[in-house]
Amino acid sequence: MPWRVGPARRSAGERPDPYRVWLSEVMLQQTTVAAVREYFRRFTARWPDVAALAAAPDADVMAEWAGLGYYARARNLLKCARAVVADHGGVFPDTAEGLRALPGIGPYTAAAVAAIACDEPAVVVDGNVERVVARLWAVRTPLPAAKPELVRLAGRLTPALRPGDHAQAMMDLGATICTPRNPVCALCPVSEFCDARAEGIAADLPRKAPK
Ligand code: ADE
Repeated sequence: MPWRVGPARRSAGERPDPYRVWLSEVMLQQTTVAAVREYFRRFTARWPDVAALAAAPDADVMAEWAGLGYYARARNLLKCARAVVADHGGVFPDTAEGLRALPGIGPYTAAAVAAIACDEPAVVVDGNVERVVARLWAVRTPLPAAKPELVRLAGRLTPALRPGDHAQAMMDLGATICTPRNPVCALCPVSEFCDARAEGIAADLPRKAPK
């Protein structure tokens, strides 16, 4: 994933750029990694930093977003970029709390950017993480009622060291192995700690309240 900074560059002292992390996280909401990749490349080539994006005409950004869907995200993207420039001198706040105060940034995005770009041990919970945690602790309470419990349990796993790598590893686990249907427990690096696996109910969790 082009927005990630691998271990070699990390060891050389490089940190992920909050702008690129924020942009990728907004694009990844409701959109797959495969679909986002090209859009991310084009956006960052055309607007390499938040000041450049903030100065872009709305129509150019909307045109570049075309095809990604959920167009409110593109409008919020611009609102947020302009707030970072107008109110923060073009520098993203470096805490989840500060990020949360920006327009269009919800609890998930604030936590993800803080963990990945700022090394803050913020608790990052998306649908993938909810599923992994519900299975690890065999949480039978249906969603959405289970959400606070799942956030609490996810917090127990969040490490002080490399919280961003941890958050992304949890999401990757949910996307590739701990999948909604037919989880591949045989390949799972934490299957020995998984209560749902032990009870033979991994594929049945998390439960969802009937609509
Ligand atoms: N889904 C959303 N953000 C992600 C990330 N940073 N890594 C993996 N999957 C994600």
